Amino acid sequence: MTTSDRAIQTDLTSEQLSNIYRIDDFEAIAHERLSEMAFAYYAGGAGDERTLSRNRSAWEEMSIWYRVMVDVSKRSSATTLLDMPLSFPLLVAPTALHKMAHSEGESATARACGSAGIPMVVSSLSTTAIEDICAVARSPILFQLYIGKDRGFTTELLRRVERAGCVALQLTVDTPVWGLREREMKTGFCVPHGMSIANLDRKSDGPKGHTGVGIAETLGWTITASLCWKDLEWLCGLTKLPVMVKGICRTDDAQTAVRCGAKGIVVSNHGGRQLDGAPPTAEALPRIAQAVASRVPVIVDGGIRHGGDILKALALGATAVQIGRPILWGLSAAGENGVRRVIDILAQDFDRVMALSGCPTIASITRDLLEPPR
Ligand code: FNR
Ligand code: LAC
Repeated sequence: MTTSDRAIQTDLTSEQLSNIYRIDDFEAIAHERLSEMAFAYYAGGAGDERTLSRNRSAWEEMSIWYRVMVDVSKRSSATTLLDMPLSFPLLVAPTALHKMAHSEGESATARACGSAGIPMVVSSLSTTAIEDICAVARSPILFQLYIGKDRGFTTELLRRVERAGCVALQLTVDTPVWGLREREMKTGFCVPHGMSIANLDRKSDGPKGHTGVGIAETLGWTITASLCWKDLEWLCGLTKLPVMVKGICRTDDAQTAVRCGAKGIVVSNHGGRQLDGAPPTAEALPRIAQAVASRVPVIVDGGIRHGGDILKALALGATAVQIGRPILWGLSAAGENGVRRVIDILAQDFDRVMALSGCPTIASITRDLLEPPR
């Protein structure tokens, strides 16, 4: 890695980290520390970034009609997802290329998740092999799958993922092609030399060198535009691992996914990086939860930055939420300790918001909290 791939190498100290209280402050710190190219890749969205910004504003615009005079002296944020115990309803969303943020990459993220007791979803496009991530993990690891043209390779990868000890899959379905991300193009995004897409190194249709600019040219080989429902059935028939489908915004698609064997739905628009103009996930979530949440768990990601956003998502029917960029900001600031601080900020904020909303348990977070009582 050259210095231009990552601008500042020294981690923030524990004392410095303990003085950060907001996820947005972590983003500002990451902006200072990362190369222009890395920050643009992580922060950017597709097109005019309307979906990217509406993902955030949609959560912010909802009010919490908090209850008073409820005994909240004992609170529990513990819950379960697909039989996995979670200390609070948060997962780390799959994001590519953690080594661009920190030399310890995905291993540092996995260690932070382990000490916090939350699951990590590892991207197909990680810069550390899935076996090496699972070796340091102390909490459940899920694997995010991109199915490319080479199904033989996907089958081999799946067997590696099973052997490594992953507990579930998230099949990403919102990437028939890559979105156009202007920030990436303008800063010349490429996979930095010295880094590899570790899980896909042996892929037969993989790159023969680091050529091209932007994700479409450099990582176009990782996905296929021909993916359809029969491929989900194929995948569900190929493995005993529960398959969640990630990238759903429509009720009919959620229902079809469940019919094809999906054991969970991730309401997501890829953090506003794919179709600009897609609805914010806070808008899509309640419809999908109403359609399928009695059968399979529903997770949501996109723009979650506060404990209150988590409470709103649960009130709308989600079992848990995922965060993408905040983890990359924490990683850039201080590797494992930075990720841990990001998770702690959200855990403490969620606990505080539960108390202030009159919700001692996850079960008490209900839809009426988001509507003025008649
Ligand atoms: C992503 N996301 C993503 N999703 C996926 O299924 N596989 C992947 O490899 C990646 N890679 C990736 C890289 C970066 C830099 C970002 C920001 C996002 C999407 C991710 O899983 C998630 O849907 C969003 O990040 C959620 O939005 P927030 O929390 O970043 O606002
Ligand atoms: C991205 C891919 C890797 O959003 O999912 O950049």
